[in-house]
Amino acid sequence: MCGIIGYIGQAPALPILVEGLKRLEYRGYDSAGMALLNSGLRVEKCVGKIARFEQHIAQVPAEGSVGIAHTRWATHGEPTNVNAHPHSDCHGKLALIHNGIIENFSALKKELEKRNHTFKSDTDTEVLAHLIEEFYDGNLEAAVRAALARVEGTYGLAVVHADEPRRIVGARNGSPLIVGVGSGEYLIASDVSAMLRHTRQVIYLEDLEMVVLGDDGPVFTKIEDGDSQLAKETTEIEWNLEMIEKGGFEHFMLKEIFEQAGTIRNAFRGRLLWDDGDAKLGGLNMSHEELSSIKRVVLIGCGTSWHAALLGEYMIEEVARIPVEVEYASEFRYRNPIVEEGTITFVISQSGETIDTLAAMREAKRKGARTLGIVNVVGSTIARESDGGVYIHAGPEIGVASTKAFTSQATVLAILTLLLGRFRNMSRHEGRRLISALEALPGQIEQILAQDHEIQQIAQAYHHHNNFLYLGRGANFPVALEGALKLKEISYVHAEGYPAAEMKHGPIALIDENMPVVVICTRDSGYSKIVGNIEEVKARKGRIIAVATEGDEEILEKADHVIRIPETLGLFTPILSVVPLQLLAYHIAVLRECDVDRPRNLAKSVTVE
Ligand code: G6P
Repeated sequence: MCGIIGYIGQAPALPILVEGLKRLEYRGYDSAGMALLNSGLRVEKCVGKIARFEQHIAQVPAEGSVGIAHTRWATHGEPTNVNAHPHSDCHGKLALIHNGIIENFSALKKELEKRNHTFKSDTDTEVLAHLIEEFYDGNLEAAVRAALARVEGTYGLAVVHADEPRRIVGARNGSPLIVGVGSGEYLIASDVSAMLRHTRQVIYLEDLEMVVLGDDGPVFTKIEDGDSQLAKETTEIEWNLEMIEKGGFEHFMLKEIFEQAGTIRNAFRGRLLWDDGDAKLGGLNMSHEELSSIKRVVLIGCGTSWHAALLGEYMIEEVARIPVEVEYASEFRYRNPIVEEGTITFVISQSGETIDTLAAMREAKRKGARTLGIVNVVGSTIARESDGGVYIHAGPEIGVASTKAFTSQATVLAILTLLLGRFRNMSRHEGRRLISALEALPGQIEQILAQDHEIQQIAQAYHHHNNFLYLGRGANFPVALEGALKLKEISYVHAEGYPAAEMKHGPIALIDENMPVVVICTRDSGYSKIVGNIEEVKARKGRIIAVATEGDEEILEKADHVIRIPETLGLFTPILSVVPLQLLAYHIAVLRECDVDRPRNLAKSVTVE
């Protein structure tokens, strides 16, 4: 949410900043701006997506080898040129970009207005620029430090000042900030993808830390203590440039849907033990005793990751017979949750930066729970702060609507289920059955992807409809939620996911010939019941798009359209049944001419509450 990139080196900063902004665009795209230092401070801003900013900047060439840039996702103040970052002080000498929310901005603003500061924007961020101005007497670092002592809220920020032209000051509290170390050049960004072209050597800032970037490299300190330098570790990023390119696909989302055979394989590679019919997840950092004394599992996430958590609940309860609770991160943290001995908490997050999930994890930790992450982004805050965890190894997910991360999260939860099951009563033979099913998934995903053309035709038939209902039972209920979410996110079509049997308690009133109903009716225990639900829809002239198991002939008589998925274990079906729904949402969005990878109002990494 909001992307930050800064550069100091010998090369022209402008193309580096623009390229960085493009890589960060999934964090927000309502406006963009930059500040370049070159015998004075030059600030340019533009409402709209980065492509528009690029056109704008092409008309007003700017030079300099130090600069900062920002792509915004509005919290305070509409997306306008004035509200776009960077924000400046009264004299236009300082420029600041910020990700997060300054919670006490109203009080600070009043105080600063009394001291004759003039504000131009409606943002919380501008307060910071004036507050730093207030403390500035020739030392930007000291002024930032003093200003931040007055601030309540979250921030990842970068500041430059015309009087200190070879310096960028950055600080972090609650919003990610990473320093990239190149050869004779340094970058600062909210995400590693923004600097991958220049370096893979990075240093992560922790909360309440500051960095001063100069030509001699970064100097890290605690915000509250400028005297003691921090010795920070440099980490090498494994992702490469190719992984963050579209690779010939029209959209990142489509590329990521098509990557799923490989990403699922990456999620289980090296973690399945065929001989023992067991699994190993070394990153959990838990002993035999600890694993066998788990009494309750809490799964926490937001959005698609929350849907994955629901799948985890079905899997773990069914196989390992351990009670599981699934929590929205945003609700969990504020309702004084009960954390008893024997509770193990998994926080699920693709980005590892979602602020609600991070805060929920901290709350669980504070209450004494062991907290483990199921995370994609290596080195992300959740990955670093959790007591252990499992990386899903899905590679960079750039499309705002999550796809491959979901199936990889589900795969990791399936492996966890196997592991916990074997600590309970599951036999080696049963363990092997799960392993075989898991290992077959990539090939089965390929079979589903081969139906892309048929799914596109279904999308063609229904893309004008403005309401959809998604129904599923058992472990396919979370898939109904996820299918509906995908459609909502990228097509702006109203869609509801429902447990199929609940339809008759409300949504059935909506059904008529204009209501397409997507039913996940694979051949598992609830099949005959869900066929009954299909009949109820048909009796009211609803149109049925069925996701059904290969070989199911009966469904052909009931459904208007059938998408086939291969047979797997009932509990693993969601990992397959979600794939056609991702494709359906994708094609409907394309046909409705929506910006698939950058849906309106959304951001991929939600770092504000
Ligand atoms: C945003 C994204 C969703 C994602 C959710 C949780 O809303 O648009 O795609 O599922 O955040 O993100 P996380 O990175 O924690 O999985």
